[in-house]
Amino acid sequence: MGKLDMTKPALLFVCLGNICRSPLAEGAMRAAAERAGLDVEIDSCGTAAYHVGAPPDPRSVETAAAHGIDISGLRGRQLAAEDFTRFTHIFAMDHQNLRNIEAVRPAGASAQVSLLMDAVPGREGAAIADPYYDGEDQFEFTWEDVNAAADALVKQLKP
Ligand code: 4NP
Repeated sequence: MGKLDMTKPALLFVCLGNICRSPLAEGAMRAAAERAGLDVEIDSCGTAAYHVGAPPDPRSVETAAAHGIDISGLRGRQLAAEDFTRFTHIFAMDHQNLRNIEAVRPAGASAQVSLLMDAVPGREGAAIADPYYDGEDQFEFTWEDVNAAADALVKQLKP
């Protein structure tokens, strides 16, 4: 992804269930934007509907809390057609998410869709692995990835 343009950025983080990876990405980005004093719209959602209305996975809540961030109030929602005009940038956690997002993109919609790790120099093309079936340790690796991406996005967004 190149330098972001300076219309008010609106960033949407997308995974499969919107309970593990993308809520952590949303939390990391909210914290990074706040630290940098950036006015950015931030949200997350899932390509699937399994966890609509559900809070983040307790392992994601604990991992965020360990880094001083409260994501317990977030609730799952599914990606919708209007997201492609409401958001300037849509970030997929992995390649399957990216394919699922592109499959429902309305023709001519304005949002730029990319892998989240494309924002991190040297990590372009990398996936953020689904930690759902793994142990708590994996959630810390997820955090490190989404936090690196949040820092990289802030650098690009800073005037
Ligand atoms: P996420 O993880 O996409 O990072 O939120 C998952 C959450 C739930 C399921 C799969 C992945 N699931 O199959 O229910």
